Amino acid sequence: MSHFTRGNYPSTRLRRVRRHDWSRRLVAENQLSVDDLIWPIFVFDGEGRQPIESLPGVDRLGQDQIAEAVQTACSLGIPAIAIFPATPSELKTPDAAEAVNPDNLVCRTVRKIKQEAGDSLGVICDVALDPYSSHGQDGLVRDSYVINDETVEVLCQQALVQADAGCDIIAPSDMMDGRIGAIRGALENAGKTNVQIMSYAAKYASSFYGPFRDAVGSSGNLGKASKSTYQQSPGQSDEALHEVALDLAEGADTVMVKPGMPYLDIVYRVKSTFGVPTFAYQVSGEYAMLSAAANHGWLDRDKVILESLLAFKRAGADGVLTYFAVEAARLLHAAQSQ
Ligand code: PBG
Repeated sequence: MSHFTRGNYPSTRLRRVRRHDWSRRLVAENQLSVDDLIWPIFVFDGEGRQPIESLPGVDRLGQDQIAEAVQTACSLGIPAIAIFPATPSELKTPDAAEAVNPDNLVCRTVRKIKQEAGDSLGVICDVALDPYSSHGQDGLVRDSYVINDETVEVLCQQALVQADAGCDIIAPSDMMDGRIGAIRGALENAGKTNVQIMSYAAKYASSFYGPFRDAVGSSGNLGKASKSTYQQSPGQSDEALHEVALDLAEGADTVMVKPGMPYLDIVYRVKSTFGVPTFAYQVSGEYAMLSAAANHGWLDRDKVILESLLAFKRAGADGVLTYFAVEAARLLHAAQSQ
């Protein structure tokens, strides 16, 4: 048999453009840059650093560590940081009142970051009650059910104290209905017209959040209870588009899909359907999974970090929240200076 009969060989050989590094770079369709990274940090009321067992390599930061974190983010060129509080358990109540305390841990941290960095670093605050509630749910609970409209009222107040502290981006992660419109309205009424809303629009009831709940100390409180009456079921896809459509109509500036890697199909659909700034959250369980394997020597840590983040870009994400942000930024800078 002549070799000309084998498919389209030799005229079509996709390996030609893969032959050399310069050529692979030349045809590259997607790129990861430091500008794509958002760094989530955990803070606690105290000094020093506290390791988080299920997130090896990630520490809760005391108030004396904030300035250094800001310095790290700014010197690497990371555009934004997202703050999550480990609220002391004695401050957790069924009504999550600490969430609306203008002097709570998050608000104090925002002020500190803004003092250090001004407008050179964006600050993102999560809006949801779980780090403050004694039951670990994202909203107020009545008869074992998370109630929507009363929760939204508290979320509006939470957003306002965060905006007052200097937060640039309000990020509601609670999945209550109507909260984006209500929060937008509250911000407008308070004259906070330029505070952005990054909506966790398509957020799934996922088991990949486990280590995060350890980090903010909500897992023990939540116990066996689930968040399935408000977060989306993992099999849903069209429903994610419905959520995004509503949040955009209600005034979201940017939208997020969460978790990340197992939900790249959703990232792709959201970006291609709406064409708005779309973010993905490589959540705590994804970090834990990759880190654990890398720590065992089963995966090449640096390579899987960069590959996993590039995959988000390929799927259509404009940026990624990732606990690897600092490491990834260092790797990207090192690659550039080679
Ligand atoms: C709070 C919130 C969660 C995460 C971000 N914001 C936990 C949850 O919904 O239970 C998870 C992030 C992560 O796992 O890294 N509503």
